[in-house]
Amino acid sequence: MLSVYKKRRQTLLSELPDNSLVILVGSQQKVRSKNIKYHFRQDNDFFYLTGFNEPDSFALISKKNNEETFTLFCRPKDLLQEVNFGERAGVKGVLQVYQADLAFEIADFNRELVNQLNDIEHVFLSDELNLISSQLIPLLDSQRLNSPFDVVKQYRTLTPLAKILHPMRVIKTNEEVGLIKAAVQASTKAHIDVMRSCSSSTNESELSAQFMKSIAAFGSTEVAYPNIVAAGNNAMCLHYEDNNAPIKSGQILLIDAGAELNMYASDITRSYPINGVFTQTQKQIYSLVLSALDAAIAIVKPGTPWNALHETCMEVMCKGLIELGFLDMTFEHAMETQAYKKFTVHKTGHWLGMDVHDVGPYHDEQGNWRKLEPHMVFTIEPGIYIPEDCYDVPESYRGMGVRVEDDILVTKGGHENLSAGVPRTIEDIEKVMAE
Ligand code: GLY
Ligand code: MN
Ligand code: MN
Repeated sequence: MLSVYKKRRQTLLSELPDNSLVILVGSQQKVRSKNIKYHFRQDNDFFYLTGFNEPDSFALISKKNNEETFTLFCRPKDLLQEVNFGERAGVKGVLQVYQADLAFEIADFNRELVNQLNDIEHVFLSDELNLISSQLIPLLDSQRLNSPFDVVKQYRTLTPLAKILHPMRVIKTNEEVGLIKAAVQASTKAHIDVMRSCSSSTNESELSAQFMKSIAAFGSTEVAYPNIVAAGNNAMCLHYEDNNAPIKSGQILLIDAGAELNMYASDITRSYPINGVFTQTQKQIYSLVLSALDAAIAIVKPGTPWNALHETCMEVMCKGLIELGFLDMTFEHAMETQAYKKFTVHKTGHWLGMDVHDVGPYHDEQGNWRKLEPHMVFTIEPGIYIPEDCYDVPESYRGMGVRVEDDILVTKGGHENLSAGVPRTIEDIEKVMAE
């Protein structure tokens, strides 16, 4: 049976000319301090095409005479290292489990690369951290520079693999949609648990820990990005990570947190009163943000241009900010000058997949905004942020950040809001928080 990874390699190779070699460089373990390393996380392009999750690995995928050869380079078996840091597949394991046609130890990479480059015209490189880029270019040129006059010269092209692979990654396969849904499901339960424990907690850190505990029950030990658990004015920092301030009744809590499960991300934000009951002013801001999000979700279907989602959010929030008296100008003038940005601050979405801000272009080849297609997955995440020193709005609104973020799948007939299970209306939030 073909593994999903082999199918992906075949799809990739079908886009490449004959006599191509794809070079994939895996992630290395990063040092936290001295001899202590961070938990290993594989490079996403590498994992997408190999399914191999060990550090320091390389892979070569060649297309010669329209035949694929997949070569994996892995760490050698080493009993002492394995007792200390976990099992390694080794060359034999790589051949058996990962459907490699050839397998070598990492030390053989340079020699085998030179060998496989023979007769190759097109080289595609995925090397996010530039681990081999500087040695590769002289190597690609060496035959041309050093060969005798009577040998046919090679003029190889070097292309970032991202140019071919990342557009592929924008359209999720059925398996990928299932994995994203599983990550969203873990986050959904965790967000509900945090909502329920909010009014009896005293510090942002407790709520962040509650989120981690709840996703662990789904087998998720990692989040796709550091949790953002921001009470009151802390929400002005869009990527607030300290998560260690006391929380107080009367404040809004903004929690932006997403489990990572089996290499796939979720990314969900909710904002709600720490004491479980919205004040009138909190209701006004929250309703405005939610209505912007709902208006954008409503137009998600195949054919909608990507930028329409952001523009819809801005139009709804701009109108609302004028009605609240936050912007003293006509709608047309506020839209033209983007005066609303003072409160809306950021753009409102991104592709979602193995990376939380997933890879792939937002424009077509002519530079126009891309149109939505089935099996795209992305976030929509409008927000309104009113700093505590924003003296031109009434005091009751100040020190409040509200963002609502959902994860959306484009379907043939329209869309599915994957994160709709996390309470999002004022009524539902107050009900869950009272439980
Ligand atoms: N949590 C990161 C983002 O929403 O983009
Ligand atoms: Mn996001
Ligand atoms: Mn987010």
